[in-house]
Amino acid sequence: MTPLWLDCDPGHDDALALVLAAFAPSLDLIGVSTVGGNQSVAKTTANAAAVLAMLGITPTTTESAGPAAESNGEETKQGAMTKRCVLVRGADKPLLAPPRGACAEIHGECGLGGSEELDAVRKLVAGDVGDGLAGRARGEMPGPAAVVMATEMARVHAETGRKITLVATGPLTNVALLFSLFPVKMAQILERVVFMGGASTGVGNTSPVAEFNIQMDPTAAAMVFENCPVPLHMVPLEVTHTVLYDESQAARLAEMDDTPFRKVIHSLMTFFASTYREVFGFDAPPVHDPVAIFRVLAPGAFKEEHFRVDVETARGSLCEGQTVVDRWHSSGKAPNVWVASSAAPRPSRR
Ligand code: BDR
Ligand code: CA
Repeated sequence: MTPLWLDCDPGHDDALALVLAAFAPSLDLIGVSTVGGNQSVAKTTANAAAVLAMLGITPTTTESAGPAAESNGEETKQGAMTKRCVLVRGADKPLLAPPRGACAEIHGECGLGGSEELDAVRKLVAGDVGDGLAGRARGEMPGPAAVVMATEMARVHAETGRKITLVATGPLTNVALLFSLFPVKMAQILERVVFMGGASTGVGNTSPVAEFNIQMDPTAAAMVFENCPVPLHMVPLEVTHTVLYDESQAARLAEMDDTPFRKVIHSLMTFFASTYREVFGFDAPPVHDPVAIFRVLAPGAFKEEHFRVDVETARGSLCEGQTVVDRWHSSGKAPNVWVASSAAPRPSRR
């Protein structure tokens, strides 16, 4: 099993990434950290907690910078294994820039709109998550989240001997702090980092050239590209725009048993499809974030090349947040990111 940590900002597609990470038999979801992005970090944390609850996972919530979070005594049993999954709230704003606002036009005011059932679960878990993390909501430094991440990853590595795979599907603020604080430890215990973000051919989705996750915190992205101590894999828009929630997917979902879980996912995706249609005019929305989890599950399904990638960080510049991929190695700089250019199409169903 691959121990996996997911840093995310749920978000509809982040929620699907969580579902995939929690269900894939070859993955062991050991922790989830949240970041402000699609909505404030208070909202993305509540959403992550609600999705985990829906999956039957009671996370150990923590905001302390101390050693691995204490168990709340309700560790989740999966098969023969007693499994623990930490949930920690991370950064609410970019490292150097003022907050840029959320993505309510796609994900709704709560960050994960469209399902009344999920709204109810969110209210149920709010006491555990919201109250427990109130200090962070008052704007304290986000650094401790990186400490919790490192502590928990180190614990799992020491106990299992396995290296951790870190997947990021939101702005890279927490990850940048993690690498700044623990460069040596991360080099020892991480296997690789996979992130959804950026564009490799210059067409963005929140500016003409910038992709949302990178544009939200370009400095953090630049730090990660510069300092990642293990192989760094980028799943850019060019790839995620080929993975669509189209009518056939909706029909497959509708065919499944009418469980509350299916209903929630169906409602969420219906909402996501309608906002994507309104904002971008897409017939079917791209399901960005689970593709980064899929990169961990099926590396052979991706075509990747090793390029130098830099980020435009100049505040207020035309290209702020653009990922500049040195396709022809003209900068003379060493490659630093494995950039995916395609994911194999799904084999057709019989
Ligand atoms: C990314 O932006 C967010 O809105 C999505 O959750 C995804 O991570 C796509 O650009
Ligand atoms: Ca996301």
